[in-house]
Amino acid sequence: MDTATAPSAAPPAPRGVIRRLQSRQGREDPFPLFEEIRSAGPVVSHGPHALLVTGYTECLQILTDRIWQVPDHKWRAARGLDTDGLSAKVLITLPRLNPPLHGRMRRLQSGPFTPAALERIRPTVRTLVRIHLDQLDAELTRYGQADFVGKVARALPVAVMCEILGLPSEDRALVARYSLDTAALTEPFATPAQTVVADAAAAEFHTYVMALLDERARTPGTDLMSQWLTHERLGTERVPRDELAAHIVFLVGAGAETTSSLFATAVQAFEQYPGQARWLAAHSEALPQAIEELTRWDPSVQNAVRVPTRETTVAGTHVPAGTLVHALIAAANRDPAHFPDPHTLDFRRPPRRSLAFGAGIHYCLGAPLARLNAAEFLPELLRRFPTLHTDGPATRTPGLNLRTFLTLPVSRRPRPVLTH
Ligand code: HEM
Repeated sequence: MDTATAPSAAPPAPRGVIRRLQSRQGREDPFPLFEEIRSAGPVVSHGPHALLVTGYTECLQILTDRIWQVPDHKWRAARGLDTDGLSAKVLITLPRLNPPLHGRMRRLQSGPFTPAALERIRPTVRTLVRIHLDQLDAELTRYGQADFVGKVARALPVAVMCEILGLPSEDRALVARYSLDTAALTEPFATPAQTVVADAAAAEFHTYVMALLDERARTPGTDLMSQWLTHERLGTERVPRDELAAHIVFLVGAGAETTSSLFATAVQAFEQYPGQARWLAAHSEALPQAIEELTRWDPSVQNAVRVPTRETTVAGTHVPAGTLVHALIAAANRDPAHFPDPHTLDFRRPPRRSLAFGAGIHYCLGAPLARLNAAEFLPELLRRFPTLHTDGPATRTPGLNLRTFLTLPVSRRPRPVLTH
């Protein structure tokens, strides 16, 4: 016992709140449910061994204090959560690694996200934005309606990830399916059906990447996979090829599903706040802060899980070592104690760091790429499709960590005037 804390029981989470978050209505608008959790207390219990945390300060503490770690393979295996199956192996990557291995793997993977590497990829991103928006344009002209997610929001970030990693462009549709199907791998409350699909997709995707790595090992190119293969040896420790494949499988999903959600959310946000959209279209210099505000308001990653390595307290609640804690990023980003008028999207909000990209050593590795993608995409979307609006409800997969869209029907018929 190295922390002298008085044990205090957390109040229970509102009844069935996780189930309700996973329901169709909860997926569509989880924010009233996060407020329901907040009103029960800053730290509430979910079952006997897990806690849900909604406050900004508390979530920041959990993400940055070094006594907190991600639930790794050892923690999961002790609770019967990881099998020896391939999907568990695929997930032995950054979000499931703790120091010192985490730091080594992170250095290995940071190459494509340096400022210089990103500036090199910017022209490619710009071209891909134009191509995908041309396709949306053609589809809307032809049919009057299009699925924004299939045509643009998922297809574009997948294409960018394929370019960065050196995955063949003719395989983009296949990679998009893998990206979507593996999204449930990181879900703490995945249904058995989702797990079956995710496991199968992870196994297939891993085999696909292994074959490409073998090919690049035989005939190296200038792509990232070839570069990583020449660095298979990292420090004194060997990075086996199947682990490299696992990192690639995770990177594609982490990069594509999150950015896809950001793009589809932007369409919904611009529709809900047409005044904000018009203001942004006229103030390109405000784009960086608008991207931060969009990701604060409705973040693609809603939740991050951690366990304390020794007993501790959060907001006065005693947390035994090894307790699974859900830091609800999406709730923290709307904590009224940190963000005044938190439910309103306001591109002119004074800048204040949100937790949309996490914090601490697991801070999103791809955040600079996500910002670059958004900075290239959003102004073009506003310029070329000023009357784009949703033309039916979005569909989403159930999930607490990721806000994954399946479809978002759009058209560009003039929309009714709203008052915001
Ligand atoms: C809007 C877009 C994005 C959002 C909102 C987002 C959000 C996040 C968050 C919240 C975390 C931390 C999770 C935790 O602490 O448990 C994270 C980690 C990560 N993200 Fe992102 N992400 C985005 C885009 C990307 C992109 C484009 C890539 C890569 C191409 C990427 C790769 C990663 C990786 C590898 C990690 C794990 C880092 C680590 O554990 O050290 N993300 N992301």
